[in-house]
Amino acid sequence: MTELRLVPKTKTKRTLSASPRVHFTALPRPGVRTIAVTSGKGGVGKSNVVANLAVAMGQMGASVVLVDADFGHANLDLLLGVNPRLDLLSVLRGECDLAHIVTEGPPGVRLIPAGSGDARLSEVDDVRREGLLREIGSLASDADVLLLDTASGSSRQVTSLALAAHELLLVTTPEPTSYADTYGLLKILAAHGLGSEPGVIVNAAASPEDAEEFAHRLASVSRRFLRKRVHSLGYLPFDPALQRSVQKQEPAVLAYPKSPFAQQMRKLAAWLLERSPDGAPVGDTPWDRECA
Ligand SMILES: Nc1ncnc2c1ncn2[C@@H]1O[C@H](COP(=O)(O)OP(=O)(O)O)[C@@H](O)[C@H]1O
Ligand SMILES: [Mg+2]
Repeated sequence: MTELRLVPKTKTKRTLSASPRVHFTALPRPGVRTIAVTSGKGGVGKSNVVANLAVAMGQMGASVVLVDADFGHANLDLLLGVNPRLDLLSVLRGECDLAHIVTEGPPGVRLIPAGSGDARLSEVDDVRREGLLREIGSLASDADVLLLDTASGSSRQVTSLALAAHELLLVTTPEPTSYADTYGLLKILAAHGLGSEPGVIVNAAASPEDAEEFAHRLASVSRRFLRKRVHSLGYLPFDPALQRSVQKQEPAVLAYPKSPFAQQMRKLAAWLLERSPDGAPVGDTPWDRECA
């Protein structure tokens, strides 16, 4: 496995963003360790990364609550192969409580599904979203990790969840359009006072070198112009097994555990679980490990 170490290992002093803080309705941070996964652009593999990450963490003994927070374009139920009868839309309509929509997934994973194709979900206002997040936080209080699959782009729906989470993972592909959208999102988050240092995952990379070049460029531009440090979490390969797993509606870590994509996902899951909950890295990048 090629070792990727894209961010210098030397500890630099944290610098505060020079940009003025824009007023923003901060959401309450749930007590449970919360990791939001987002992207500047859609179709970069974010939901597949989240689904496989959750299942891999579950396989390692963690209790994970997975929230489909891509309101209006939800698909984690399809990727996990579960068939929820009720979802967040039902909660918003007042038809049931949040506890009723929690759906058992693969071992260790509980899904909070959202609906698709209904504008009411994508237009949830700050107050309602804040209430939902608080409820989700208390519902997941017994879990080890709360994983949020957010929408893509830089809408308030995305930025509010990204800012509320303890940790933020940005998924991108090594394409110029993805680069521009990831940088654009980072710029908006930095202007809103993003406190955490996001981890960047380069997905569907043709080679580790491609991913390395991409992540290095993003990290240095972000450091220079946004005064924001981003960690490279390495790359996930382009892998036809992932596409087959989507067709089967079974996450790649279950359907094709030996595939390159699944192996990298397990490394990422193990690395995140071993990280201290305050976000401080305890080791090298996930990819420095031997294949599981
Ligand atoms: N690493 C990969 N290798 C091969 N295909 C991929 C990979 N990542 C994503 N894809 C393809 O991209 C599609 C969209 O992925 P998805 O996770 O739904 O994206 P997003 O949530 O970012 O919109 C997948 O269904 C799959 O066909
Ligand atoms: Mg998605």
